[in-house]
Amino acid sequence: MAKEEIKLDENNIPNHIAIIMDGNGRWAKKRNLIKKAGHKAGADTLEKITNTAIDLGVKHLTVYAFSTENWKRSDEEVSGIMDLLRKYLRENIKTAKVRNCKVDIIGEKSRLDKDIQEKIEELENITKNKTGLNLHIALNYGGRDEIIRAVKKIADDCMDGAINCNDITESLFSSYLDTKGIPDPELMIRTSGEERISNFLLWQLAYSEFSFSDKLWPDYTPEDFKQAIWDYQNRDRRFGGRNS
Ligand code: IPE
Ligand code: IPE
Ligand code: MG
Repeated sequence: MAKEEIKLDENNIPNHIAIIMDGNGRWAKKRNLIKKAGHKAGADTLEKITNTAIDLGVKHLTVYAFSTENWKRSDEEVSGIMDLLRKYLRENIKTAKVRNCKVDIIGEKSRLDKDIQEKIEELENITKNKTGLNLHIALNYGGRDEIIRAVKKIADDCMDGAINCNDITESLFSSYLDTKGIPDPELMIRTSGEERISNFLLWQLAYSEFSFSDKLWPDYTPEDFKQAIWDYQNRDRRFGGRNS
């Protein structure tokens, strides 16, 4: 029997959705494939979900692609991921013209290989005037690392006299994070059945709604994504107050 189509409230599409794209390794293992094959399938899913987000009018999509802790994995897996990243950047540079999507990277870029950093800059530059979806890719990203880098910059600015210690507010602090200018996510999705944050957007997820899916990321579909938005639309968000 055909599943009924999910009817979303077009006036209540989350402005910002964050995704922990987890489960590529298990997807590959189930098929007796090498890890890289799982990451490749995961990259294909990212393309589909990005296009769905564009179609739905989502303004910001932040995806966790590589964490500050993922360097602990084998050299083979890390270099496989970096090769796929090169391919992803190359392909997105090619197709940038036909997709209304502005791309930028959050995370500490200096640890990435020079050629990757150059490709990132090129993609950020050629998409900077796009007006549709803002796709933020978290690469060598860790929430704690981001907070520490922000604290160091604030301390420097205090010592230089650029700001006064008493000027430090939540909004000033936010403006020192990699996500400067990006509204906090209303919805955070994690796939693969794990129910943890794993150092993702620690500051920004303070009041986000969480959606956990048992599906492995390569198996996650645009329908699953719409279902997560539907669930979000039926949540009661209180922000510490009362709605009735
Ligand atoms: C997420 O998939 C992608 C990265 C962390 C780079 P995993 O590789 O963590 O997949 P599992 O958790 O091993 O299945
Ligand atoms: C989080 O997934 C990082 C990314 C999806 C890029 P991990 O697979 O690294 O997280 P843990 O180890 O299960 O917490
Ligand atoms: Mg994982």
